[in-house]
Amino acid sequence: MIRVAIDGPAGAGKSSIAKAVAKNLGFVYIDTGAMYRAAAVYALENGIEIVADAFSNEILNKIKIDIEYDDDGQRILLCGRDVSERIREADASIGASDIATIPAVRLKLVELQRRLAEKSSVIMDGRDIGTYVLPDAEVKIFLTASVDERARRRFAELEKKGMAADFEKVKKDIEYRDKNDSEREFAPLKMADDAVLVDTSDMTIDEVIERITEIIKGAE
Ligand code: DC
Repeated sequence: MIRVAIDGPAGAGKSSIAKAVAKNLGFVYIDTGAMYRAAAVYALENGIEIVADAFSNEILNKIKIDIEYDDDGQRILLCGRDVSERIREADASIGASDIATIPAVRLKLVELQRRLAEKSSVIMDGRDIGTYVLPDAEVKIFLTASVDERARRRFAELEKKGMAADFEKVKKDIEYRDKNDSEREFAPLKMADDAVLVDTSDMTIDEVIERITEIIKGAE
């Protein structure tokens, strides 16, 4: 069994790349950001302020997150409801970055992530997979790109989906999350000492997929 950890900042292309590589190699793809996003949607929908004190055990036990797989890949369920589309909205992105600073929330989600990685070969993407969730992963990749390039990609993705967006706002949101994700105290976004750095600023998606597939094959 091989565990591949792909970490990096928002908009570096982690999920599209991880999804494609997982399909090529027959691994299970686990998008951990989706779990933080689902927890944020729970807070947003239930009027819970995203501060540490608000997440008692009682509230945490009510946040039921499940992952299912179909032909399109991972679906994420919040208390039994499919929220795979809802979690991609801007308020869920910012909310996820905020909720991810709360240790009790992280501990709950990390437990689920570790359980999923016990079952089969996986590619898991996030911020702290190589440093905290799966410190013994066989392959660790840190995927990054310049802020401008990441904002351009995210903007194009939103436009394609017909979700109207303003470029400056998209860039500001990415900068906010970069800072929030890397400056939090518990399991921040950080490259693991033994990770391979891949800067995708000047690479096409296919080039990145090829490079990462090579790295994984080299470890098999
Ligand atoms: O990868 P993403 O954009 O879907 O992640 C949303 C937020 O969730 C991100 O800004 C920080 C948080 N996150 C995290 O703290 N740790 C992870 N392993 C994955 C995501």
